[in-house]
Amino acid sequence: MDTSAITGNITEQRTGAVVVGLFQGAEGSGGAFGAVDRALDGALKALMDDGEIKGKKGEFTLVHTLGRISPARVLVAGLGKQDTFDAERVRNTSARALRYLRGKGIANVATVLLGSGSGGLVAGVTAQAVVEGAMLGLYRFDKYKSDSSENNELESLTIVEQDGSTMDEITKGIELGRTLAGAVNLCRDVSNEPANFMTPTQLSEVALDVAREGALDIQVLERGDMADLGMGAILGVASGSAQPPKLIVLRYWGDRDDESNSLGLVGKGITFDSGGISIKSATNMGAMKGDMAGGGAVIAAMGIIAKLGPKINVTAIVPATENMPGGRAQRPGDVVKTMSGKTIEIDNTDAEGRLVLADAVTYARSLGIGRIVDVATLTGAISTALGKICSGVFGSDQALVDSIVKAGSDSGERYWQLPMYDEYRDQYKSDVADLKNTGGSPAGSITGAQIIGEFADGAAWVHLDIAGTSRADSTKGYTPKGATGVSVRTLARLAQILAD
Ligand code: BES
Ligand code: ZN
Ligand code: ZN
Repeated sequence: MDTSAITGNITEQRTGAVVVGLFQGAEGSGGAFGAVDRALDGALKALMDDGEIKGKKGEFTLVHTLGRISPARVLVAGLGKQDTFDAERVRNTSARALRYLRGKGIANVATVLLGSGSGGLVAGVTAQAVVEGAMLGLYRFDKYKSDSSENNELESLTIVEQDGSTMDEITKGIELGRTLAGAVNLCRDVSNEPANFMTPTQLSEVALDVAREGALDIQVLERGDMADLGMGAILGVASGSAQPPKLIVLRYWGDRDDESNSLGLVGKGITFDSGGISIKSATNMGAMKGDMAGGGAVIAAMGIIAKLGPKINVTAIVPATENMPGGRAQRPGDVVKTMSGKTIEIDNTDAEGRLVLADAVTYARSLGIGRIVDVATLTGAISTALGKICSGVFGSDQALVDSIVKAGSDSGERYWQLPMYDEYRDQYKSDVADLKNTGGSPAGSITGAQIIGEFADGAAWVHLDIAGTSRADSTKGYTPKGATGVSVRTLARLAQILAD
């Protein structure tokens, strides 16, 4: 989809449709809605009088102009109540409006800065949200559908603004929206990709592309390298798979003068989680192709960071492997030795995320990284606690937790903090090793988090559990059904916040 901005009048655009907004309770004479209404001799006001247009959130009214003005159609998007209006509302409205128009076979659309001005958002922020919402909402994963070429594409979106003085700001907003949404959609692509294609090797190829594009350093550690480093936990998980594991390391240097100004982003990269010998039930096991969503998120976030150029050094680390029940697979009862030297008893081979993350976090520490955020589809239990409405956040460092929550709210992503207490440690004590990899069912997300935290070795560390939020069961707003790409925007924003 092409995106552009022009100075002009929305009523004069020769497009299949123009989008204008209306706040609930507004009287309808101001802004683009008023301009279109006047050009159509009060046709929109008449619909308001009839009660068909109310301006409610999620209300869309398509009006054919029948040659009376240049645009063939006007889509009136309800913006809801003005006092709760924000950029997230713009993203959702833009997404739904454009999906609707695409569904009608309309290829070229012009829109105003929805709700800007009276809605209290500045032009640049609104332009970003319009484009971000559009690209995120129009996303679809149809590459394996034989008839996908029959799907209509939205070819162009033009933002039309009367006030030429904000053009620079708008152009920058569009560019940022494109960058963020492009990265989220990359994460969605790798997470939606079937596991027979998105192998650890393929994930490392994606990381190579991101590195090339952003001029990032990249290193991909092979099984032998991991063995040399003593990464028994990753290798234990990988042992049941025919696919070679990869430890993907991407580095962005934004502050070469100060190596201690560092952030590590560690993403769980299980390209398929069958559960291993503790095999999962068949129901919905296919969704476990998305068990690398955390890894995809950190790789995609690095692409944004490379473009935005914050003054901080950021290292992404993705332990990538399948978790399979092959003949060489690790067994419940096995003991593995981690890179840190700590030993772990494998109680359940399906609790593999914390194993690969343990070694990856230790690797981050070995690089001298003092602030670490890990992102993982770690536990089914997080959905029991929080549903799919927000992700779980845990951390040893409250300032870093707060920064994540702030980065999330700046980006339209929600995180809810759960506690960690020493008393929970009893649940994952082992009779034979330093700890075991499960803590039983009470507080399963907390013990999962704490097991990873055992390897943070004094670093400021935060863990994000995205098992509930990384996949959407149905299309809502700018999040189509399937992989959501959650955390990509939050992580990139975090790097900016920490750099400031
Ligand atoms: N990848 C799963 C967690 C998951 C579940 C992600 C549902 C997305 C949707 C993880 O590896 C896992 O299997 N966790 C176990 C841990 C248990 C064995 C301690 C779980 O949540 O049941
Ligand atoms: Zn898993
Ligand atoms: Zn698992």
